[in-house]
Order: sequence, then C-alpha cells, then structure tokens
Amino acid sequence: MEVTVNRKAHFNAAHRLYRKDWSAEKNDAIFGKCNNPNFHGHNYELIVSVTGEIDKNTGFVVDMKVLKKLIKIEIEDALDHKNLNLEVPEFKELNPTAENIAVVIYNKLKPKLNAKLALEITLYETPRNFVKYSGK
Ligand code: NI
Repeated sequence: MEVTVNRKAHFNAAHRLYRKDWSAEKNDAIFGKCNNPNFHGHNYELIVSVTGEIDKNTGFVVDMKVLKKLIKIEIEDALDHKNLNLEVPEFKELNPTAENIAVVIYNKLKPKLNAKLALEITLYETPRNFVKYSGK
C-alpha cells in the first residue's frame, strides 16, 4: 500500500529575475516587474510530498518529526528571510524562478530521504502561481 505524506512549510525570500548576459531591455521584456534591480519579496508556501509503502512496524511512510526537522534545517534555515540571488549559493549563477527554487529544494531533500521514497515538491510563489517538481 503506497501512501503520500504531505508536510507544509513556509518561507519569505527576496529575489530578482534577470540574466547578466541580456540587455536591460530584454530583461525587462522577459521578466517584467520581477527584474526590479532593488529585488522584491514573496511569501513562498511549500508542500513536501513523500510517497512510499507504509512501514509495517511503525505504520508510517516517513516519520513526520524527521521530515519536519529536515525541512527546517535544509530549506527554512537556508532560504527564509534571505535574498536568494545574493545569499544562497545555489542561485549565484541560477535564476531564482519558482521552477528553479523547486528543483533546488528537491535536490536538497532527496538525498536525505530513504532512497525507496518518492519525493514531490509543490511551491507556491503567490496564492495563484505554483509549480511542481518530482525529479524528472
Ligand atoms: Ni518575483
């Protein structure tokens, strides 16, 4: 029996979407307001979904206490109240779009989970805009 366990988390972060190798005009055309040179913030809502077999001994797919702590250490401590472009090494050369943030979060969490478990990241950048990534 496979069950998906979900844990919600939250972080605030600032970013700017732009490419150094593009002109100011092209950055404006592609990234619009998100290219504001003074950065801007989002209240990111994160859903971490872990799918796997229920362990016969514990009745858990994954221990929620362990998952909660993992998200706190790997994601919240690393991203909350940070300027993603300036303070988070993963985005030094990578545009911090919601898509790329979801991939970074996946790559941070996946190696820390039992390899038998499937992971899916859902990341809301605004209440209406969200992305999903599951490692494909
Ligand atoms: Ni933005």
